[in-house]
Parts: sequence; structure tokens; C-alpha cells
Amino acid sequence: MRSHYCGQITEELIDQTVEISGWVHRRRDHGGVIFLDMRDREGLVQVVFDPDRADIFSIAESVRSEFVLRITGRVRHRPEGTVNPNMVTGKVEMLGLSLEVLNKSATPPFQIEDDDVSEEHRLRYRYIDLRRPEMLKRLRFRSEITRYLRTYLDNHGFLDIETPMLTKATPEGARDYLVPSRTHEESFFALPQSPQIFKQLLMVSGVDRYYQIVRCFRDEDLRADRQPEFTQLDIETSFLSEDQIMNMMESMLREVFAKTMNNELADPFPRMSYAEAMDRFGSDKPDLRIPLELVDVGDVMREVEFKVFSGPATDPKGRVAALRVPNGGALTRKEIDEYTKYVGIYGARGLAYIKINELAKGRDGMQSPILKFLPDDAIEAIMTRVGAEDGDLVFFGADKAKVVNESLGALRVKVGVDKGLVEEGWKPLWVVDFPMFEYDEKAKRFTSLHHPFTSPKEEDIDRLVSDPESCLSRAYDIVLNGSEIGGGSMRIYRPEIQKQVFTALGISDEEANNKFGFLLDALKFGCPPHGGLAFGLDRLVMLMTGASSIREVMAFPKTQSASCLMTGAPSTVSADQLKELKIKVVKPPKVTH
Ligand code: AMO
Ligand code: AMP
Repeated sequence: MRSHYCGQITEELIDQTVEISGWVHRRRDHGGVIFLDMRDREGLVQVVFDPDRADIFSIAESVRSEFVLRITGRVRHRPEGTVNPNMVTGKVEMLGLSLEVLNKSATPPFQIEDDDVSEEHRLRYRYIDLRRPEMLKRLRFRSEITRYLRTYLDNHGFLDIETPMLTKATPEGARDYLVPSRTHEESFFALPQSPQIFKQLLMVSGVDRYYQIVRCFRDEDLRADRQPEFTQLDIETSFLSEDQIMNMMESMLREVFAKTMNNELADPFPRMSYAEAMDRFGSDKPDLRIPLELVDVGDVMREVEFKVFSGPATDPKGRVAALRVPNGGALTRKEIDEYTKYVGIYGARGLAYIKINELAKGRDGMQSPILKFLPDDAIEAIMTRVGAEDGDLVFFGADKAKVVNESLGALRVKVGVDKGLVEEGWKPLWVVDFPMFEYDEKAKRFTSLHHPFTSPKEEDIDRLVSDPESCLSRAYDIVLNGSEIGGGSMRIYRPEIQKQVFTALGISDEEANNKFGFLLDALKFGCPPHGGLAFGLDRLVMLMTGASSIREVMAFPKTQSASCLMTGAPSTVSADQLKELKIKVVKPPKVTH
């Protein structure tokens, strides 16, 4: 039904008769002449209908926005003065010769060009929202990115292999989505949080190099960069070291950035230990575009009178850190109050600060509610350590290290953004040497920082059970501009070490066998050393397109409360379906006051 896409009608086709099929983007009546802007996937073209062709003119008069039309017409130059330099097709127009209405359209719920439509409305009518050129452009870009990723992996000997969606729980730390089994009473499948165990089993099988662009399901609290179902580029390899894996993944990203964005990423990507990232940035995914750093001042604060500082400074789990904001002296009282409120979200109980008007004057050249608690030598030591200059402001956090890291880490980013300090460009970073375990205060036990199949460092194996907190893992995360776009590790391939890790995690033999017996078995049958990683594809595309949310790069995303406004999922099901599944829905008792 077409010879060309609308967006392809250019000067090269002058005087030719072409055929297009697409949607009415806009219709304008101009003193007896009708202009239709026709739209399809590739763009817009202007079609003109003259009244001297009465039959098609009257059809053109009757069409409305979003009608689907098939038009033949002759390409001609636009009259002088009506050329639109912003359009690829802006120098030409089509003179309509025939017109067929393939389908009508009800009045659309919003105009394609309207930028001010609520997200709720957009998600409810997603199929119309996706007609908007910027949405299509992002979907197209996503497709281009996956094509280059696949090409790279195909060229490097990776096999694309599918793994089950109806499976058993895999521990990635989120809640599972469960699917009841009709044929096995009281039993449920879990949708995969990732293909982790299956890809490891493929290594036992000798596949050697695996990849899959695969949907993962996690029932967790949603944020702008999280969805309950999302896509991973999932990768696993045998007989490669972590350096080889990281190098290969870097070169893949460099190739994709070069091909799709004409952009050269650093070669090699910098690497930083988890400990250093926490120390300097309070985060395991530091945004290196922001030139602000946390500085430890605990040693200076141990003896000070101010308990708020000396307490955490002498607590082995505590931290006192400073964050210098260059020219931060210009911050108003109101702004500082707002930042204090902001760090409160992360559990900080306050946000001390010192404004430095004139460093040379010592405490007399400074302004701060805490100066009175600090002796001169402490003030001097802090100023030297943070490299303070006239006009700066220094923030302080003092609390458990976790609270200080999270609050000052987040403040660092917020101040960086607010003050326009974020540098241009792409800053990738590998974060390595993660701890194996973290202590879950609520559950009163250790949990894996990554997942329980992550290999410990060789030199830490002896301490797995006796001193889990000190053990480091062979995990690596890849961070881009402050966003964790991927993560992986070398895996445990010896059953006795896997057992020790389960012991450290407080998982009994019985529980381990119930949950992962098949993996423990497989490790006994000649499992090669292996490792891999997974990229969050949606997040990567979100960053590369500059989209504000992960939802902008997914065709049919869910809302923040994990529902689909278009289909109405999740929804109740019929009594028959429930009966067949032997499931009874128990309604919570109504609360009456
Ligand atoms: P991990 O849990 O770190 O690792 O997931 C890998 C990457 O997936 C992305 N991601 C998400 N994206 C959108 N919405 C979510 N809810 C979401 N959760 C995670 C992140 C993350 O870096 N099996 C391991 C990988 C491995 O060890 O090989 C895994 O799943 O960008
Ligand atoms: P106060 O003596 O409680 O009024 O606190 C003096 C200053 O210290 C105020 O600016 C508080 O915001 C700040 N402050 C209080 N608790 C903390 C904390 N845990 N970390 C950093 N600053 C704090």
C-alpha cells in the first residue's frame, strides 16, 4: 500500500508519483485548499488537495485527526516562503491525486503533539502515546542497541539460549512473582528474578559462552529506574578470569556507544574498590561526573566536646565525614534547611555545616552553629583536610557509617545537580572487591551482597564461617553516570565452598537441598570455573536516550504501583479459574472504628 514512507518524500522524488499510507497528523483548511500532514513511522509529509478535484477534495474535507489514509500524489516543490527547514520533507509537498480512507478514528484522547499529557493518561492509551515521534524514536534506538549487542556477542562466540519462565525461586533478593500450578496441588512456579542458576547449569553443560536478552521479574518497591518486569542482557562464560570478562564487556559497550552515539568511552574503564567508593562517595555506584567528595574527619572529632560528633567518631560502626561545597557559602539558610530535611530521608538526624568567609581569620572568619563545640586545632585540621577556601561551605554527617554514607552520598549528588556541577559526558566505572555478606539487622543474620553463588576471594575462603564480615567476593558492578547498569561475579564451582557459603548465610543443609539441590548436584559433575554478569537493558537505554524514567524506554511499562493501566492487570479472575487451581481468596477483615 505504499511506494515510500512519509518521512522519505524528499526533493529527489520531484515530479514523481508516489504512494503513502499513514495517519492524519493534522488537517488545515486554507481558503479552499486542504493541507493534510500525513504521518507514519518515518516522519511527516504535507499533502495538498485542490478543489478542482471535487471527488477527492470532499473526502479530504471529511477526514479527521488519526484517520488512516492511503494517498497517491505527485511530489513538487513547496511554494517559496512555505519551506519548513525543520522537516526532512520540508522542501516538498505532495499534490493529492487519489485518496482512500482505510479506517476512521474516534477523536483521540490526546493530541499526538501535546507535551502536557499526564503519565496516567499516556499509559492508559499507550498505543496512541507510542505514535509520538519521541517515543518511537526511543523504541527504535533500543532496537538498534540490542542489535549491536547481539552482533558483538555473536561475533565473540556466544550462544543465545532461552531459559524457563516457569521455574523455581532464584535468590536475587526481591520477592517472587508466583504462578499457581493446576496440575500440582498446593504448588507454585516462581517467575525468574534472573536466569542465574540456569546459566550456571549451561556452563556445567559445556555451552562455554551464553547470552540471552531476557525478561526478569521482581516484586519490589518501584522507583524511576525499577520495574517489576524488566529486561536483562544476561551473560555467562567458562574458563575466563574476571579481568577477561570485564575487558570483553567494556569493549562491547565501547563498540555500542561508538556505533549508536558516535561516542568514545574511556579505554579502559576505571576500577575502584567498594571500600574506596564508600569512603569517597558514600555510594557503591558513584557518579564520577560530580566533583565533590566525602572526607573522613572521625580522628579529629574523637576528643571534641560535641557528643553528636565524638560519639560516632569513637564507635567502630560510626563515621564522621565532611563534604566541601566549593562556593557553598552562598547557600541560603532556607537552602541549608532543605538539605537538612533531604538527608533526613536517609536517616540523618541533622546536618552540621561551617561557612568559610575568610579562612585566614580562623574561627572568626567562619559561621556555624557548631563552631563553639570545636577547638581551634580541630577546626584547622578539618579545613586543611578538606582543602577549604574562602567562600566554601563544609557539611558534616555523624552517625552509623551506613547512615552517613547514604545521606552524604545522596546529598553529594543533590548539591552537584542543584549547583550545576555535573560534568558533561559519560563516566563508566567498575566497582570491585565487594564484601561477600552484609548483616541484616532485622533478620539478625548475614545475607549475600550479590547472590549466594558468588565466589569469595581465594584468600578469604578459610574465614567464610568464622569471620564472614571480613570476606570479600569476586563480584563486579558496572556503573555509568551514577547508575548501576550491570553486575556480575565469578561463581562458586566447588560444592564444598558453596556449602560453606550457605552455612555462613545460616542456610541449613536441608534448606539448601530443598532450594538448590539440583545446583549442588550439578557442581559435583565436572563444573568448569565460570563467571558472568547481567546488564539492566532498560536502564542502559534510559541513560543512553537521556530519558527521565525507565518507563519512557519500555513499550508497555507498569505504574509505580505495579499495574498496567491499559489492560487493567492485575485483575480478579473467575470463580471457575480459582476452583480449578484450588485457590481460595481470603478477604482481609473490614476494619471498623
Ligand atoms: P542484578 O540483580 O544486579 O544481577 O541485576 C542486573 C542488573 O539488572 C538491572 N535491574 C533492574 N532494572 C530494572 N528494574 C529492576 N527491578 C531491576 N533490578 C535489577 C540493574 C542490575 O545491575 N543474576 C545476576 C547477574 C549475574 O550475577 O550475572 C543479577 O540478576 O541494572
Ligand atoms: P544541635 O546541637 O542538635 O542543635 O545540633 C547542632 C548542629 O549539628 C545542627 O546544625 C544540626 O543539624 C547538626 N547535627 C545534629 N545531629 C547531627 C548528625 N548526626 N550529623 C551531622 N550533623 C548533626
